[in-house]
Amino acid sequence: MTTPAADLADPAAYAEAIETAVKAAAAYYATGDSALDDDAYDRLVRGIAAYETAHPDEVSADSPTGKVAGGAVVGDVLHTVPMLSLDNVFGTEEFTTWVASVERRIGRPVEAWSVEPKLDGLAVAARYDQGRLTRLITRGDGVAGEDVSHAIGTIVGLPDRLSEPVTLEVRGEVLMTTEQFEHANTERTQHGGAPFANPRSAAAGSVRAKDRQYRVEMTFFAYGALPPADSGDLAGSMVELPHSQVLELVGRLGVHTAAETAVPPRTVTAVDAVQVRVDEIASLRTELPFGIDGIVIKADSAADQAAAGSGSRAPRWAIAWKLPAVEKVTRLLAVEWNVGRTGTIAPRAVLEPVVIDGSTVTYATLHNPADIARRDLRIGDQVMVYKAGDIIPRVEGPVAHLRTGEEEPIAFPELCPQCGSDIDTSEQRWRCVRGRNCHIVASISYAVGRDQLDIEGLGATRVIQLVDMGLIADFADLFTLRADQLLALDRMGRTSTDNLLAAIEQAKAQPLSRVLAGLGVRGTGRSMSRRIARHFATMELLRAADAEAVQQVEGIGVEKAPVIVAELAELAPLIDKLITAGVNMTEPGATPPAPGAEAEGGLAADAGPLDGMTVVVTGAMTGPLEKLSRNQMNELIERAGGKSSSSVSKRTSLLVAGEGSGSKREKAEQLGTRIVTPDEFADLVKSLLDQTD
Ligand code: IVH
Repeated sequence: MTTPAADLADPAAYAEAIETAVKAAAAYYATGDSALDDDAYDRLVRGIAAYETAHPDEVSADSPTGKVAGGAVVGDVLHTVPMLSLDNVFGTEEFTTWVASVERRIGRPVEAWSVEPKLDGLAVAARYDQGRLTRLITRGDGVAGEDVSHAIGTIVGLPDRLSEPVTLEVRGEVLMTTEQFEHANTERTQHGGAPFANPRSAAAGSVRAKDRQYRVEMTFFAYGALPPADSGDLAGSMVELPHSQVLELVGRLGVHTAAETAVPPRTVTAVDAVQVRVDEIASLRTELPFGIDGIVIKADSAADQAAAGSGSRAPRWAIAWKLPAVEKVTRLLAVEWNVGRTGTIAPRAVLEPVVIDGSTVTYATLHNPADIARRDLRIGDQVMVYKAGDIIPRVEGPVAHLRTGEEEPIAFPELCPQCGSDIDTSEQRWRCVRGRNCHIVASISYAVGRDQLDIEGLGATRVIQLVDMGLIADFADLFTLRADQLLALDRMGRTSTDNLLAAIEQAKAQPLSRVLAGLGVRGTGRSMSRRIARHFATMELLRAADAEAVQQVEGIGVEKAPVIVAELAELAPLIDKLITAGVNMTEPGATPPAPGAEAEGGLAADAGPLDGMTVVVTGAMTGPLEKLSRNQMNELIERAGGKSSSSVSKRTSLLVAGEGSGSKREKAEQLGTRIVTPDEFADLVKSLLDQTD
């Protein structure tokens, strides 16, 4: 979806818009900082372009339209071949029109398309002379760039030496991964520098910075290469190579390309297949450890590229399919400190509401106090906020050059904001010293929730009442409640008491996965709890496992495993209490791992009707599945031997599409994925549904 262009009413508004855009582009390309986020800049430039179309006689020489980098920077190293920018499209229709225009121009269908991520960093040219990296140059105005060779050695993926002594120029994007960005801000603020607003500005600032006392790491992704002017053998043949093979060659020489990421370039022939790949890359955007702001589609063959040619600003054989902007600048109004069910104290940013990617963002996560310190955030700051898809919005950093001096430091709590106890600050995530006992209403309410123990009739109000009366101090106490105790409570009659006691009794039979989820082991959620339960099959075996054994569970790495072991130790008294109360501690259908075995435990050998399948559920469930929540559907899929997933991709084996299923169904249709109705799916997993009854 495109936001409307700025509406410029008269010559004065046009002149002012040009001034703002030129200043913003200059700041963006010089230091990576800009008072405007990408969306606002795009809107402004489109407004300027619209005004120029309507008033062709008034076009100013300063206008950023039609210029590489908005005409912002001029360097002093000439590019052998201009480093061009890309034209943009914002959706299928515009893309199809563009394809038609290319094919009209070249007089034949394009042979093949390369579809690749549009990396969100800054363009550089890396010159290799007989295999040695000799010079690094920014894009500049496209004709000449700035020599940034001092950055050589700080950029991962751009080796000093190639695997062969060839002479060529590699072109690509320098960026910072999320991790590199966090590190860069730590270093920078520790050295008294102003924090960077986001990974892109951090990369732009760091590539150009010369005399820093500290070094920060960046990452390079090649997206093209050129033979040198005085072509040797390799260079001569390169001119003829399709783009996809140029990238392969560059990769073989030891330079990093997107081939090693979750979104590698793919070559496809049909325009429909381009769309499918665009959707795939877009759906993976939130999971990538680096930023992308679109997808680049290029005619792959050298002949097609030559036939299409290039304009002064952009080639005619490539286009950027822009994805919605996921970053906006807004004001940080306050920071709230919330205590979670495990006693962790998490800061949350209160923001001046801002629309990002179609929804209004008012709160954003700030991770932990160290994170605030690292970014040197202050109340009143203009901050860069990131929000994409379903992910929780996060504050990336302040736009430091917009500071007025009126900003206030953020006050950190000295005592637990929930119960007033001391705070354990020994780890990055602060925690109330009372841990889970601090916010017991939250932890009990969570444990009895629908996706955990599923005890009906036990809403938050009732939990508060039970806690206030001293009847429960943790959720294990529920299992020893007596009717006379419940009957003595306000608004609690015979029927409600009987129903609640029956629901509690029923909860004792919940599978281990749900008991684990209810315990709220830090570092695990519902689906991880299921994986752990299926792997170990019993609580006894899980408790006996050390970090190494826990690591055998898919998705648990070296960092998480010891946390889970420590958590289980902390929870030991509660687990013991649950066992004494008669709560089930086994996972039905799961077989324990063989002693000393490396392989997963999991389900019994003939695992079930969905063995090895990846299943996605969308739309409303009906018939026998009508009452199942998404979590219950996922449980069912996994008990049947399948893997549940939330997004459709090439790896999806089956889509269960209920009423009202939209984009996931469309995508599955495009990919030729098998689609079934809820009734058909119920039939498939009938044996397991019968067991549930
Ligand atoms: S190709 C002649 N491929 O996007 C073709 N550019 O908005 C020039 N970019 O200047 C570029 N990822 O800095 C190309 N896979 C990719 C890219 C990419 C990011 C950047 C590049 C370019 C800008 C245009």
